[in-house]
Amino acid sequence: LRLCIPCDSVARAVGADEVADSLLREAERRQLPIELLRTSSRGLYWLEPLLELEGPEGRLGFGPLTAADVPSVLDALAGNAGSHPLALGPVEEIPYLKSQQRLLFARAGITRPLSLEDYRARGGFEGLDRAIALGGEATVAAVLDSGLRGRGGAAFPAGIKWRTVREAGAGQKYVVCNADEGDSGTFADRMLMEGDPFLLIEGMAIAGLAVGASMGYVYVRSEYPDAIDTLNQALRIAREAGYLGANAGGSGRAFDLDVRVGAGAYICGEETALLDSLEGKRGTVRAKPPLPALQGLFGLPTLVHNVLTLASVPIILARGAQFYRDFGMGRSLGTMPFQLAGNIRHGGLVERAFGLTLRELVEGYGGGTASGRPLKAAQVGGPLGAWVPPAQFDTPLDYEAFAAMGAMLGHGGVVVADDSLDMARMARFALQFCAEESCGKCTPCRIGSTRGVEVVDRLIASTNAAAREEQAELLRDLCDTLQSGSLCALGGMTSYPVASALKHFPADFGLQTSEAD
Ligand code: NAI
Ligand code: SF4
Repeated sequence: LRLCIPCDSVARAVGADEVADSLLREAERRQLPIELLRTSSRGLYWLEPLLELEGPEGRLGFGPLTAADVPSVLDALAGNAGSHPLALGPVEEIPYLKSQQRLLFARAGITRPLSLEDYRARGGFEGLDRAIALGGEATVAAVLDSGLRGRGGAAFPAGIKWRTVREAGAGQKYVVCNADEGDSGTFADRMLMEGDPFLLIEGMAIAGLAVGASMGYVYVRSEYPDAIDTLNQALRIAREAGYLGANAGGSGRAFDLDVRVGAGAYICGEETALLDSLEGKRGTVRAKPPLPALQGLFGLPTLVHNVLTLASVPIILARGAQFYRDFGMGRSLGTMPFQLAGNIRHGGLVERAFGLTLRELVEGYGGGTASGRPLKAAQVGGPLGAWVPPAQFDTPLDYEAFAAMGAMLGHGGVVVADDSLDMARMARFALQFCAEESCGKCTPCRIGSTRGVEVVDRLIASTNAAAREEQAELLRDLCDTLQSGSLCALGGMTSYPVASALKHFPADFGLQTSEAD
């Protein structure tokens, strides 16, 4: 019997290790020969720990399991496996998974994260081979043609950044991967680093060779110890196999990678603060220009990208720019791994081409709230994202469509709330978060956030309508100042959750009139 259990940290947090131990013990007791593989996770988190039995017709799933379920599952495997109450049938037929368009997460739940053999068997390093054959200029052209935009949240065209770094005249350049995934409700970067680390390494090697960088760094947040450990092991394996080092991938050129660990500041996810932190300084935002593409790490040209952006590159090179741009809508091309979290029945990862609606995501995939209460709103794009009310759930998940309604897709995190959530408290939380995480460099963010918390407190405590309206007006004004006067997205975008809460849920602030569209 060949069985698979994820080694992903979410699966482990809900008992995957205990299920694995129990399986080995119980199989030994029964003298049942089993092979147990620790694979990555499918990202169907509500089903974890998810056990999969490999068979001639694919994999059969059982979940969510506890260690106590193991004897009955083994009994079922000896007879009619489908009869077990936790049997899920063929995993790839589960609608949540079957309807996805997995490019970045094509290997998720199938391969072992640190097996080069598994990686190569499913297309691994084909992109790097192709990039080496094409050369730097054509590789950059392929990234440009694919329409890939930065997946960290800002959605800047990746190819333009690559061209800027490639054309920058300097002896030494760098590639930096921003793996400081700090947005609430997001976990795609972590899943990818823990589950398919060679994909990121391959993407960074392609980037380094194309822009002329010989060194790269993956800056990972300290809250991701498993990802850090997996990446370090994967780097050693890739180096030993010749994909990194003096003759990276057989290119005849040097490219190597190292992991650096952040210390827990949200602002270090902002690219210039991250570069300061990499240089050993306190993470403080630098004014742009100069752009990091021209003067980045140690003042040298640096290509800074999110994990998902870099990990998309091997797919683009291996399968062609046209293949990639055939997914998506408008100027949002390719696929996006959306992450469903918060008060949601089926939390997990949904990779689909841009263009599906928020309703399909939250109600279709997510199955509505976990509490069973009515949906109140979804916060899209992390703690700096707008609260979107159900009336706007038919908006397609597309960068431009979200920007047009004063929201953003960000890094694809979707945190769902039911009708018990008080939006005035959430607005206060956003301002408090900004006050705590501010790097202190500019006034609207450093001081405005603290004053904002006080304004919300006064607004909630006000006993008459005129006083409440006065504080609400002050809060709106503060949002405008934050948005237009802050140096970086932390201060600038804190206005999104606050202004959207005020606009769509005035009653939570004790305000009478609905300003909703
Ligand atoms: P930005 O718009 O200033 O820059 C985007 C990227 O394009 C940067 O790397 C910048 O250096 C580069 N760039 C801009 N013009 C360029 C040019 N002409 N040539 C070459 N490169 C150029 O946005 P920023 O401040 O880097 O990011 C803001 C976003 O970060 C927000 O939209 C938010 O969604 C996201 N965010 C993501 C988080 C996460 O955990 N993933 C956390 C917090 C915010
Ligand atoms: Fe620093 Fe806030 Fe200004 Fe950004 S907006 S530079 S975090 S003080």
